[in-house]
Amino acid sequence: MKNILFVASECVPFIKTGGLADVVGSLPKCFDKQYFDVRVVIPYYSCIKDQYKPQITYRDHFYMSFNGKQQYVGIMETEYEGVKCYFIDNQEYFTCSTPYSGMPYDLEKFIYFSKASLSILPVIGFRPDVIHCHDWQTGLVPVYLKERFQGGDFYRGIKSVMTIHNLKFQGVWDIKTIKYISGLSDYYFTPDKLEFSKDANLLKGGLVFADAITTVSNTYAEEIKTPFYGEGLDGLMRARAHDLRGIVNGIDYDDYNPETDKFIAKNYSAKTFRKEKVKNKLALQKELGLPEDPKTMMIGVVSRLTDQKGFDLIAYIMDELCQDNIQLVVLGTGDERYENMFRHFAWKYGNKVSAQIYYSEAMSHKIYASSDAFLMPSLFEPCGLSQLMSLRYGTVPIVRETGGLKDTVQPYNEFESTGTGFSFTNYNAHEMLNTIRYAECVYYDRKREWNKIVDRAMAQDYSWPASALQYQAMYDWLIG
Ligand code: ADP
Ligand code: GLC
Repeated sequence: MKNILFVASECVPFIKTGGLADVVGSLPKCFDKQYFDVRVVIPYYSCIKDQYKPQITYRDHFYMSFNGKQQYVGIMETEYEGVKCYFIDNQEYFTCSTPYSGMPYDLEKFIYFSKASLSILPVIGFRPDVIHCHDWQTGLVPVYLKERFQGGDFYRGIKSVMTIHNLKFQGVWDIKTIKYISGLSDYYFTPDKLEFSKDANLLKGGLVFADAITTVSNTYAEEIKTPFYGEGLDGLMRARAHDLRGIVNGIDYDDYNPETDKFIAKNYSAKTFRKEKVKNKLALQKELGLPEDPKTMMIGVVSRLTDQKGFDLIAYIMDELCQDNIQLVVLGTGDERYENMFRHFAWKYGNKVSAQIYYSEAMSHKIYASSDAFLMPSLFEPCGLSQLMSLRYGTVPIVRETGGLKDTVQPYNEFESTGTGFSFTNYNAHEMLNTIRYAECVYYDRKREWNKIVDRAMAQDYSWPASALQYQAMYDWLIG
């Protein structure tokens, strides 16, 4: 039996702000249970969903020297769908309404979390062969593992993997502060280790010290070796190219299943979507107060409202797009300027635009099921899960060809009758608008062709098993 520990800052169903939680919550279930014992550790935030708290029970606690004090480390645990989950409890750090409260608060809290995640292992009696770390919040785990924790027999030989879900966020702060909080010596704060343009960079630490690096699509694995996508770490990515691989994300095919989904008005399948899918659109139009018309093309957006997702392109052409015969349904939260932009257009074009500025799992499922097309024109996209959910629900993605979007959406080719969506290359608002309008033409004028795109979209398989096998092969190779 090989032991694997996932360390991350979020995990469904307990706490989620984005795709990271989906991955950390759904991938561990898909490993071969005969050979792999995969467990997860996340912080015990006070904002963990209330419905799960009663099942999370106290296991143990101890005190860990950290940042000049003896800090309480509580260990909570539960088992969810066959996966053992641990939670690090410390009210000083994890009393919050969302997992992230911004810098510099997050620094101390996630450095504490990284150190505590390693410290609990002898207490819970679980010695991982591989510790699989996710994003900057866990960047110091591989560093600590190579440093102080190698002293004892328990930790010696444990391998680490660092997965990049988003290179934009790195956990950067001044060296003095990070040195003090982390307790790491001067040795670690040089340009070949944690130093980064005179500051300290937690993710960089993870990327330097991890035994292997992965990211969540092949194209993104290539892109981050270039200055445009590399966020200042492209040199390091090139230097570690042999240890870096892209493994595309999957989605949970039980949670996202149009045949059984409990959130949607009418269930449907790849066989019945021609008749049944539209009933979801009518129900959503009614719920949102949009004109109830089965024929109008509905374009959905479910997203964090940030620059990464291409909302400046959308802002630029909103007035033009709203001249077309479409409905645009947006669900998201994030940058105020994008929240207000959509509120403004929902006011200006009340019968065409619906702005749902909040977070709701139920509403997200309704939009994936009801829309005809899904718009995701990202500036960069390590993988993207929303387009995979759309494919699963027969909602045709319109994407920019970057990262995982490029790897998972095949552009429609009208001459060969192939493709599962529509895509454009350059980060240009009118290139995007032209692509949306091309999709509108196919939707309105060549309905049979459109339905064949939906057939092909729904026939794709982006469930986890294939990618889980690639992770397993990597663990096997690391463990030797
Ligand atoms: P990212 O992780 O960059 O935000 P992904 O496409 O990988 O992008 O994952 C986004 C996840 O978050 C999807 O599961 C999507 O449905 C969900 N999501 C984003 N915004 C909302 C929202 N406002 N309400 C509900 N779910 C949301
Ligand atoms: C990040 C990325 C997204 C990816 C997700 C899960 O949030 O922005 O593209 O799908 O992580 O890996």
